[in-house]
This record gives sequence, C-alpha cells and structure tokens, in this order.
Amino acid sequence: MRLNKNPKKGIMAGEYKRKRGTMSEEKSALVLRDVCKSFGTVTAVKDFSLDVNDGEFISLLGPSGCGKTTLLRIVAGFEIPDSGEVLLDGNNIINLPAFKRPMNMVFQRYALFPHMTVYENIAFSQFLKKRPKDEVEQKVKKMLELVQLEGFEPRKPNQLSGGQCQRIALARALINEPKVLLLDEPLGALDLKIRKQMQIELKNIQEKLKITFIYVTHDQEEALVMSDRIVLMELGEIIQVDTPKRIYSHPNSRFAATFIGESNVFEGEVQKVDADQLVINVDGLQFLANKNIDVKVGDKIVIAIRLEKVGRAGKGVKRSFDNQVPGKVEDIVFFGSIVKYYVRISENIIMIAQENIAEEESEIAAEENNIGDTVTLGFTKRDVNIFLE
Ligand SMILES: Nc1ncnc2c1ncn2[C@@H]1O[C@H](COP(=O)(O)OP(=O)(O)O)[C@@H](O)[C@H]1O
Ligand SMILES: [Mg+2]
Repeated sequence: MRLNKNPKKGIMAGEYKRKRGTMSEEKSALVLRDVCKSFGTVTAVKDFSLDVNDGEFISLLGPSGCGKTTLLRIVAGFEIPDSGEVLLDGNNIINLPAFKRPMNMVFQRYALFPHMTVYENIAFSQFLKKRPKDEVEQKVKKMLELVQLEGFEPRKPNQLSGGQCQRIALARALINEPKVLLLDEPLGALDLKIRKQMQIELKNIQEKLKITFIYVTHDQEEALVMSDRIVLMELGEIIQVDTPKRIYSHPNSRFAATFIGESNVFEGEVQKVDADQLVINVDGLQFLANKNIDVKVGDKIVIAIRLEKVGRAGKGVKRSFDNQVPGKVEDIVFFGSIVKYYVRISENIIMIAQENIAEEESEIAAEENNIGDTVTLGFTKRDVNIFLE
C-alpha cells in the first residue's frame, strides 16, 4: 500500500480522495491476466496483467504502436486475445460479445451519426433498448447538462465544433451508464487550449459519476494531469504502473525517466556499496545515490536525474547537496518561464540544469551566467534514480 501515513499533511482533500483509488484493498472492477495478442508476426500486446480498481481513472500511456488501442479493443470485446483472461467483477468475459459488455468506447474521431441531431445521437442507444420516450428525454437532458451543452438538442454534428462533438460523443456513451468507459485518445483531434480545458472537465465528470475510466493517450502531460494511475507501455508490455507523482519522481527505467518528463541519463558503474547509499562512477566522476535497488560493486547501471533537481551549488548558495560537480556552461536555452543550462561536467558528459526563471531565488539565472562560465552544479542523492539494464 502506497498511502501516505498522514494523508492530510501537505496534500489537498481532492488528492487524498484520488490516492485512495490506488489502495489495494479496494475492489478490482476489471482484471487482465497474461493477455497476449499478435497480428501475424507483430506482437501487439504481451503478457499484460493489470488490476483496475472500481471508479479508478487509469491511463494507458505509451508511444504510437505500443498496443494501447489493441488492449482497449480486447477489453471492449472487439478483439479476442490469443491467450489470457479478462475478468469483470470476477467473471471471465472473454466469450461475452461486445454489445453485451457493460462498457462504452469514445474515439478520437467522434463517430457521431452525421444525419442525426444531437438529441438523436445521444438517445440512439435508448431507442434501441425501447426505453419510454419520457425517460429518454429526461436522460438526454441530464447528459447535456453534464457536458454543459444544454439547448443543443436540435443541432446536427456539422453545426458543432470539435470540442462540442467530443462532448456529445461522451454524452452518447455515458447515457448507457457503463460500468467501464474506454476512451481512445479522445482529445487528440482538439487544439491545445480546448484539450487542456477538456482534460479538467473529463476528470470532473469521472469523479462525479464514479465510473471506471480506461483512458488511452500518447501524451505524457495528459496522463499526469488526469490519472489516478498511469500504465506506461512500450512494445506491447507494461514498463511501470504507478500514480503520476510516483512515476514522475521514481521512474523505474530509462524509458520511464525520458518518456515522462526529462532526465539527465548517464551510464555508470557501482564503485562502493554502503548500507543505504552507493558510490557510482560516471565517466571518472563519483556520484552518491540512495541505494534503492540491489546492486554490487562492478555492476553497470544507468542513472537518471530530473533536470529541475539539478541546481547551482558552491559559494554563496544556501542549499546543500550530496553531490557537487564543477563544469563549464556550454549553452543556455530559454523556454519562456524556464531556462536550461547545458554544463559540461566531464569529457563525455553534459549535465542539464533547469531553473524556473519566475522564481525570485532562481540561482543560476540571478547570477546571469554566460556561455563559457564555470559553475558548480549540485543534486541530492535522493534524486538519483538507478536502473539495471
Ligand atoms: N488489425 C491489425 N492488423 C495488423 N496489425 C495490427 C492491427 N491492429 C494493430 N496492429 C499492430 O499492432 C501494434 C499495436 O497497435 P495499436 O494497438 O494500434 O497501438 P497504439 O494504439 O498504441 O498506437 C502496431 O504495430 C500495429 O501496427
Ligand atoms: Mg491507438
């Protein structure tokens, strides 16, 4: 269990509620066990096992082609896995046809019926189920309120913006009160501003309805913003499953450290192993790191340090660091509110330090360093993530 011992301290109520979704004693709504799927010689999904909690917002995150859509289609029943099980509330649903599964899917291309009105699009499944007219009217009204498009009933899809189409597609799925909602890059076609707004709204709707969401995206920021947990995938396999905070601060691999956020990644060798810390040789430099994994002297390892965890050390700097290393500034790049310093710390290694230039205490920026200057960089051993490859 990863729950903070003192949940009130330092985190807000909403976050606490969200964290609870990750507790292992919570009921699993959906379980995938050793799911495999190939298309000819292409392995799309390999030995995929995952427990999704009831009411959880879980994201499948990974580059294009890593098997996200295939997994979602397996869960929905559009694709039969070559092996493995899919359990819903404890029952294997592998042989249950898609239309009998209490699930709905939302796609990037909204797939609204173009000749139908908004009302007819949302009500369509209810007509099929032969629900009474009054009841359908009430439900559609409720759905339009939920997605904040009251009064849009008579419009046709070609009279809607992309964001509005996606809200209607969402309403059309949610009117079925699915147990699990499957979303395949639903915001991918929207422009950045609308996408960011929809991320927050989708999250709010999910929290309100408490429906389990399985959300597919290749956008790491989207996954960080919305998810209770992120399932990071590469080549059909799970690399890491964790809360956004954990996966960001404790990536378990070179892939996780670079696909989500940015890291300084170096190869090194274990030089000394103490009870709780390691000395690592990186291109002739010695770095201290917390001993988070089992290694022995001589092991080849990879270390990753987040760019924003590297600061300026040395004379006149109050912060203390376990690791301090002098270097020469080779480049300075401004990105609006942040600035990155590329500092050569050894013959083969450039370390990147990132500072928020809006911060008054921005130390490197305050000094107005120039290319060619000598600086001392620092980072703590806690912020050094170590992986065996
Ligand atoms: N119906 C199919 N026939 C052949 N290959 C497929 C099919 N569907 C997916 N693939 C392949 O399986 C891999 C995973 O695809 P997909 O699940 O769509 O990935 P993602 O959604 O992460 O981009 C890719 O290499 C893709 O080309
Ligand atoms: Mg896809």
